[in-house]
Amino acid sequence: MTARQRLEGTDGVAAAEPGDAAPARVRDEASRVRDEADALLASLATPEGRADPYPIFARLRALAPQHRSASGSILLTRYDDCASVTRNPEYRAQSPAWADRVIPGWRDSPGQVATFETMLFRDPPDHTRLRKLVSGAFTPRKVDSLRGEVAALADRALDAVADACADGGTADLQGILALSLAMPVIGRLVGVPETDWRHLRASISALLNVVELFTSKKELAEADAAALALRRYFADLVAERRRSPLGDLASALVATRDSPDARASGDGSRLTEEELLQTLTFLFMAGVDTMINLLANGTAALIAHPAQAELLRGDHGLAAAAVEEALRYDPPVQFVARVPAADATIGGVPVPADSLVIALLGAANRDPARFTAPDRFDISRTGPAVLSLALRSRGWRPKSSSAPW
Ligand code: HEM
Repeated sequence: MTARQRLEGTDGVAAAEPGDAAPARVRDEASRVRDEADALLASLATPEGRADPYPIFARLRALAPQHRSASGSILLTRYDDCASVTRNPEYRAQSPAWADRVIPGWRDSPGQVATFETMLFRDPPDHTRLRKLVSGAFTPRKVDSLRGEVAALADRALDAVADACADGGTADLQGILALSLAMPVIGRLVGVPETDWRHLRASISALLNVVELFTSKKELAEADAAALALRRYFADLVAERRRSPLGDLASALVATRDSPDARASGDGSRLTEEELLQTLTFLFMAGVDTMINLLANGTAALIAHPAQAELLRGDHGLAAAAVEEALRYDPPVQFVARVPAADATIGGVPVPADSLVIALLGAANRDPARFTAPDRFDISRTGPAVLSLALRSRGWRPKSSSAPW
């Protein structure tokens, strides 16, 4: 489901709306709150809202922390609500089965299929099966073995920035990060060769529109075209790895799919050909886009807070804390969506089964109930775990003993 579908329409009913018996004054107030909250949501789609959504989140949190939008989606802006929903196994993914029940015609949109059939949008047992197939590529030992190469790539990216800025010039930081750092790292893991990085970037950006909070018809059409182009690309890559395997994830997944016992089962139950292509596309996209945005947002925050940059220059031991603070302050993924398996309530607001609950992670990370002076970028801060990775409940528990779940 695209965000456009989540939030479109103007005839919704606020979740906290009082019953018919409520005095007119109370009904008027509820209606004013609902209208203002809807207007705030709409303002997130403006250029100003996209550039700096945080004042809007703050107002929404103060006004209607569990707001039911006109389309019936519930938007959460409080840390505790977002944390408990993202980590509660009773809140499921927007799975294909859910989409079949709720979004007519989604299977006719290649962009939505390429998105909603990936592991991110699956529940167990499919989620467990798909995740297990790729987790071998991300063991601590494998990730650690990339350390030297990543450091050399980071040096190269910094040199490119320095060259571009020499003599008073400007650097396209996102472009440099994409081609000099993110794509080389994820491309090597997944198996996408350097010659293809540049043209894949446009398709990835277009497909990612499916998971924006607002998606126009034009953007959805572009996402559909991008999904088809990416499918063709990865089908060719898989054919190539079938002929000549390498040490990358594409080759490993082909080997899994073509293994004698998978062939013997005959039903593709370990990994279908479509899942193979979707998994490669998703990993490439998930890794590249987030990495570029985290580094670009973190750099922007350091430039805007020179004293913090100075602190970091003076003590490289603060690097991990600076990354954590960049994740909190301006997270690359601004929201995740969940679907309650049964009727529930959040903060007293009824949440019917199968409705869409959107945890606004960027808002949660700036909740003053959880973070002191939340709008301050402070790499020395201590506090609860940031929600920017929105880890699902399965087997994961936050380190902080003060966490409410
Ligand atoms: C750098 C910052 C990153 C951020 C902020 C980030 C954020 C997220 C978020 C919010 C989710 C959704 C979790 C949920 O719905 O519960 C997610 C899922 C995922 N991300 Fe990332 N991510 C980052 C980097 C990466 C990288 C480098 C990769 C690897 C190539 C990656 C691969 C994945 C995968 C495979 C999932 C699905 C996990 C699952 O469904 O179990 N991410 N990420």
